[in-house]
Amino acid sequence: MPKTYELDLGDYWRIVKRRKVIVLGTFFIITAAIWIHTSRIPPTYKAAASVKVDKPRTAGTTDPTFDVWEGTDFFEAQMEVISTSGVAHEAASALGLIKEGMTEKEVGAIIEPFQGVIPSKRGNTNILDISVTTNDSKQAAMIVNAVAKGYQIWSLKDHNEQAKQVREYVWDLLKENEEKLRLKEVEVREFKEKNPIGASLGTFQSQVVDMEIKLSNLLEKYTDRHPEVTELRGQIENLKVRLAKFPELEMQFNKLTGELQSLNSIYGGLKQKYEDAKIAEAQTVSGITILDVASPPDSPIAPDLQKNVTIGAVISLILGILLAFVKENVDTSISTIEEVEDFLQVPILGVIPEMVHFTPPEKKWEWRNWLKFLPFKAFQRSGGSDITAIEEVRKLIMLSGEEHQFSSLEAYKTLRTNVNFAVAQKKGQILEITSAGAREGKSLTALNLSLTLAQNGQKTCLVSGDLRRETVSRILGVNKEPGLVEILTKDIPWSDVIRKTTDLLVGELPPDRILQTMGIDNFYLLTSGRLPPNPAELLSLDKMRTLLTELRQNFDFVIIDTPPVLPVSDASVLGPQVDGVILVYQVGRTARGALKRAKVQMASTGANVLGVVLNNIKAAEMKMAPTYYYYKEYYGPDEQLVRERHRKKSQGKSWWEKIFSRTA
Ligand SMILES: Nc1ncnc2c1ncn2[C@@H]1O[C@H](COP(=O)(O)OP(=O)(O)OP(=O)(O)O)[C@@H](O)[C@H]1O
Ligand SMILES: [Mg+2]
Repeated sequence: MPKTYELDLGDYWRIVKRRKVIVLGTFFIITAAIWIHTSRIPPTYKAAASVKVDKPRTAGTTDPTFDVWEGTDFFEAQMEVISTSGVAHEAASALGLIKEGMTEKEVGAIIEPFQGVIPSKRGNTNILDISVTTNDSKQAAMIVNAVAKGYQIWSLKDHNEQAKQVREYVWDLLKENEEKLRLKEVEVREFKEKNPIGASLGTFQSQVVDMEIKLSNLLEKYTDRHPEVTELRGQIENLKVRLAKFPELEMQFNKLTGELQSLNSIYGGLKQKYEDAKIAEAQTVSGITILDVASPPDSPIAPDLQKNVTIGAVISLILGILLAFVKENVDTSISTIEEVEDFLQVPILGVIPEMVHFTPPEKKWEWRNWLKFLPFKAFQRSGGSDITAIEEVRKLIMLSGEEHQFSSLEAYKTLRTNVNFAVAQKKGQILEITSAGAREGKSLTALNLSLTLAQNGQKTCLVSGDLRRETVSRILGVNKEPGLVEILTKDIPWSDVIRKTTDLLVGELPPDRILQTMGIDNFYLLTSGRLPPNPAELLSLDKMRTLLTELRQNFDFVIIDTPPVLPVSDASVLGPQVDGVILVYQVGRTARGALKRAKVQMASTGANVLGVVLNNIKAAEMKMAPTYYYYKEYYGPDEQLVRERHRKKSQGKSWWEKIFSRTA
């Protein structure tokens, strides 16, 4: 048996239409709130300037100490620099905002907005954009322009400072070198003087030759031992020894001159660098070029009223629809008859008012009592207050002897009329009375409908098909055994267990009430019997079919009271075996979604759902009743007369009394 219950597009549209107040309310309230909130947000403006950054070539910086940034990302570092206090300070100074004698705190406050700029690199170029967002359009432009300028000044100063350091360093090196050079020169000169080096070699050699000539001349005059000869010979020997050492001395000398040369060239290089550093220090152009100067933006970047309101509107609409569905799901109320009929696609056969107003003793601590103070009606359940004392329930049945309210009598008569027309006045009709959930008034409606039909002269048998919670025998004060269960399980003929007026008379009800009820002899009762463990199985027995066929032949109407549809399957089992199903719905007790589910489920078993009886309707909920005239076209001449009579009578009555007068 298919139990699925799916909403189609039409259902969704109906729900939205019905809940338009929630949908539109949510939509307008949220959208308006967003609109108001957005319009109150102070506007923010964004301005941007751009600068081109050329890597500076600091003169004289061959020393790697000065090229530390080469290893890091130069532009990353520059972007960091732009938002430092140094640049902010230059920016503020350029605008003339920093005065002499200001405290550090005051300066800090002035430069703060300038530090709020956001630098970014433009793609793979050497262009940096400097942007800022503030509440003032002019201020935004002023800040970025000043920061660009400040950055330029800062860069130049930084560059010059570096050049100065280079110059000083080079100067120190130069001085050091100069001293080394001087010492080396002296050393070379002295070495040259003392040793037969280079050009002096020839002199030394000719000296030796001269001395040897002189020696031979002396030897002509003197002997070998003459002191002059000995001395000259000694000198010659000495010179010869030194001449023998010549290659070694030559090497020493070359080394010395080489050293002198390198010192000389270092000195020259340093001198050049020193001159370069001096020029760089005096340089007045930084590597920063301002490309774009910001002008005050015309329109703010935030808040975007149009965007916010559009997004808000879409979200609130979705939320509104969601709320509508939530409300629909938990809603237990009924607004108009047409709406219910439209929703369920079945007619309303009767609107039975709340016959006795029953207020349960208030339990102060109960959380439900506090819920009613909540503004969300969706979470309140107005229904659910039952009369449990059997004497009280007995006052609600359509037997004489009780002062029934006019409206309830008329309501049951209308139900009877509508039922008669719904089955096209055919005889031998079996009707099943059920509901979506428990305690909606199935048994009371079945009993009162049966009694009202009997009073109309129609032979009616009320069958207690609720084999789980037998109520009718209890209300009527008769023993529930033997009954339906015994017919189905033992071979007892139905005519043996059916209760007639005489059986009622010996029951617990006052005999007067029974005897004085018009047409009571048309009323028959088939009680449940001993409650079985397997009601649904019993009801699906073939014997049940046979029984129903027999009853159909013997009565104008067979009204079967059954358990609710959604919790148990008994009602669904009986559905296809009967001529029509009437759903009882107690407004305020069961969610309307459940009612629709019950209807769809019954229809899916092949049952013919005749319509719905709205039961236990409180005066406050009667606002939907003015349109309750669905079956007016079926009213026979008698009914028309009654209607006319009530129309006249109803003048001066309260509006809901008028409604019931109209329906009769
Ligand atoms: N129109 C009404 N006016 C006042 N009270 C009502 C009305 N209809 C039902 N009730 C109250 O609801 C109670 C439950 O009714 P009834 O036993 O007919 O419901 P039910 O749907 O058959 O319940 P169950 O699911 O237990 O079989 C009744 O005892 C009565 O107190
Ligand atoms: Mg019942």
